[in-house]
Amino acid sequence: MPDVAQHLALSQKLQYDDLDWDLARAHGISATEADCLQYFADIESQTVFYMLEVAKLEVARDPELLAFLTIWNYEEFFHAQALTRFLTEVGVVAPDAAARSHDVRRAAQLRATVEDWVQVTLARALPRTFVALWQCWGAAAELLTTQAYEQIMRTTANPVLRELCRRIARQERRHFAWYLEASRERLAGERFAQRVVRKVFELNWTPVGSGVKSPAQVAAQIARIFPGERIYEVLGTIDRRMGTLPGMAGFDVCGRYADRIQALLPVEARVVRRAGVDYGADADGEVAA
Ligand SMILES: [Fe+2]
Ligand SMILES: [Fe+2]
Repeated sequence: MPDVAQHLALSQKLQYDDLDWDLARAHGISATEADCLQYFADIESQTVFYMLEVAKLEVARDPELLAFLTIWNYEEFFHAQALTRFLTEVGVVAPDAAARSHDVRRAAQLRATVEDWVQVTLARALPRTFVALWQCWGAAAELLTTQAYEQIMRTTANPVLRELCRRIARQERRHFAWYLEASRERLAGERFAQRVVRKVFELNWTPVGSGVKSPAQVAAQIARIFPGERIYEVLGTIDRRMGTLPGMAGFDVCGRYADRIQALLPVEARVVRRAGVDYGADADGEVAA
């Protein structure tokens, strides 16, 4: 398990009370930004349920893992709170974070229950492999989330939203770093786990939020956040980083997801992956953790 001490030292409640809300209101946000932030808040509000799903499993009761999960859940909790505050301040009607968490979960109850059942079954049958899979899944999800906040940070005309996204992205990137290192340790020398993880990704990977949103909703939202070829750069970056893990060389699951969803998108939003372009090569503009 990666050393959790560094994360304990850096962990803190996201600061957002000090943001200039008058300035935020003066600039406002676009309809697309409002839509993206609502979606982010929906996903962030579900972290506690993801944590509960894994924390109740015997195999996850490693003290270092539980320490990280505690910090992670604490930090994610305030992401939903901060987004809700921002949306409210700029005049977007947004449910409070607690109501949002409950409503999103209830709407996705069946999908979440099936997912939970699959997790419990896999965890019982193959506990070590399950934890490796869960951590790899976390790494991909956190890197996608990081890039989503960084995308808004780079493109928004609202300076307060830019700062808020910068602060959240720094925490998301730390989460990614932990999950990636944990995955690396968990997969090292474990050929069976490597094969299972790779196969499950190839058969099932969809972006974070798929558990509580429909495939078409997720596809539309991802394409809206990362328009045009940007979707290939972002998902290519995830493929590259995941491809550094033991047994994952040549990982291209995320890029292939981008290919697959094109058919779900409105015609004007579709994009064709250009042959021979290494999309993930230099797209990962990092925000220091
Ligand atoms: Fe978050
Ligand atoms: Fe995160």
